[in-house]
Amino acid sequence: MTSDLTTPGPDELAALEQLAVAVATEAGQLVLDRPSDLGVAATKSSDTDIVTVMDQRAQDLIRTRLGAARPADGFQGEEAGGSTGDGSGITWVVDPIDGTVNYLYGIPAYAVSVAAVVGDPTVPGAWRPVAGAVVGPALGETYRARVGGGAFRRRGDGPETPIVPTGCTDLGHALIGTGFGYEAAQRRWAAEVLLHVIPQVRDIRRIGSAALDLCHVADGALDGYYERGLNPWDLAAGWLVLTEAGGTFIDVPTGDLTWAATAGIAAELERLVTGAIERVPPVRPRSAPGPG
Ligand code: IPD
Ligand code: CA
Repeated sequence: MTSDLTTPGPDELAALEQLAVAVATEAGQLVLDRPSDLGVAATKSSDTDIVTVMDQRAQDLIRTRLGAARPADGFQGEEAGGSTGDGSGITWVVDPIDGTVNYLYGIPAYAVSVAAVVGDPTVPGAWRPVAGAVVGPALGETYRARVGGGAFRRRGDGPETPIVPTGCTDLGHALIGTGFGYEAAQRRWAAEVLLHVIPQVRDIRRIGSAALDLCHVADGALDGYYERGLNPWDLAAGWLVLTEAGGTFIDVPTGDLTWAATAGIAAELERLVTGAIERVPPVRPRSAPGPG
């Protein structure tokens, strides 16, 4: 993978965006056909961090399609397997099903997230998305964006419309999304931080898909969102949809914290969350080496 953060030219950007939409849509159709006997195929970071057979099938499909269309690109997916590519400067960062627990239970808030990024997505802070799509097949929603091109949403067979965040300027009236991750210590920490945040905002939503959370800040279904411990595949496409819609996105690699907001509450939300974090004993970052 390369450290070059140069944005591709307009024609390549448009082609990357179109490819992201096409493969995310195809994978969305695949996962929509949910097996009636769907169960947990494997677990990852903890017993609650699950994989279904459809996560791997969707990733395999996406990888095959991207590999056929752009063989020199790198690939990083949530499920097993990745490659550095052959010097094209683009790596695809893919979450085949973001919101896998919702998917397992038949809750429609899950999405396929496909992003083309420049830089090295394995190094925090050393990459950024340049084109991407988030497709929620059970919601009938498709979001897309490319650098400088704006952000768009299609619902069902309706027309594509440009999206913008809400005009909220008052944190006390802001609807804020968040998530808790999968590790027990991380969840306890997130719940304690939330105790300080929830009295200061309109309400909290835990939708269960970070990719959708970011798109929902982009299209005004949420005013803001924060979460600790996300991975590049959770946020790559949603980050671009949000910033192209005009929202604020901050990913703090050192603190492992991501937040997103409509511009009018971004600074206030940052103050509230960082203030809450200061009042809660830290948990060790996931990537920190253990004792000994
Ligand atoms: C998860 C979802 C969830 C977030 C977790 C993610 P997954 O992704 O985005 O909302 O809270 O941190 O890992 O496991 O469903 O792909
Ligand atoms: Ca995910």
